[in-house]
Amino acid sequence: MQQHVTPPPRRRMIVGISGATGNIYGLRLLEVLRRLDIETHLVMTKPGERTLAYETDLKVRDVRAMADFSYNDADIGAAIASGSFRTMGMVVAPCSVRSLAAIAAGNTDGLLTRAADVCLNERRRVVLMFRETPLHAGHIRAMAQATENGAIVFPPVPAWLVVTVPRDWRRKSRTGETADLCRRIGQGVFASKAGLVIPKVIVLDDDVDPTDVKELVWAFATRCHPLLGHAVFNDIEGAPLLAYLLKSEKVSGHTGKIVYNCLAPDEWGEALPMRASFRHGYPAEIVDRVRRRWNEYGVS
Ligand SMILES: Cc1cc2nc3c(=O)[nH]c(=O)nc-3n(C[C@H](O)[C@H](O)[C@H](O)COP(=O)(O)O)c2cc1C
Repeated sequence: MQQHVTPPPRRRMIVGISGATGNIYGLRLLEVLRRLDIETHLVMTKPGERTLAYETDLKVRDVRAMADFSYNDADIGAAIASGSFRTMGMVVAPCSVRSLAAIAAGNTDGLLTRAADVCLNERRRVVLMFRETPLHAGHIRAMAQATENGAIVFPPVPAWLVVTVPRDWRRKSRTGETADLCRRIGQGVFASKAGLVIPKVIVLDDDVDPTDVKELVWAFATRCHPLLGHAVFNDIEGAPLLAYLLKSEKVSGHTGKIVYNCLAPDEWGEALPMRASFRHGYPAEIVDRVRRRWNEYGVS
């Protein structure tokens, strides 16, 4: 007898992108969910579209194309406005003060907040990557209220920032020395508002792919000198959310910060030695062709 096996329904997740800084978190989430074959339903608020233009070169249509389905925030009749539309839940990344406060208050005048509200009704997981510092009591009350409603408030706390510099940076810099460049990068980053929550900066040459953790570890292992490869900044303002801070630092809001200098040593100049790896040892077209073949043979 022939048996018909119905495949399990595809898992779905709602992704909200609101108008706080850090829309890269929402974009990366869409990429990861696609890789995991989770069907994505995207709703981006108008301020979210605006911050996208400030922070990336992407157009709204590029972001929409990263999701399986996308909706306007004004479309409060969209599928995701109803709890009967089954999903795993919702992540709002990044989540602005306005969206957090609306979700906390059950104010559902836009699709993003409505979708979050129905997920909470249905006891589905709602994660709010709340982005604001410093916080006043109203923010803290809204976080507490959203938590009581069932949401998980998860402020993104970046462990480090990676800065990549172009190969010809020496020609444009004051001294042409890596130590001077790294110190100046640290001064700029740690004095900025965004830098308040960043404790570590890693500076790389542009032959290292900053989105590939293996590459990052390679650069750290091979280019960061144990004695000379860092610039330390003592006793400066920092966000108290980092797990490794001492109790006294959490209370004072002051800690030490560091820039790791993973640039090729000054003595090498611009001519970096060839890296002994498949990816870097052959022309890009050969690497691509071999990788394609591996895919065809099913060995990648
Ligand atoms: C460049 C830019 C950066 C902003 N950054 C933040 C932020 O980090 N956190 C925040 O709560 N609001 C931020 N805002 C303000 C929000 O966009 C604004 O409050 C908006 O009403 C949020 O609406 P929404 O929640 O519907 O997206 C920013 C606005 C702009 C233009």
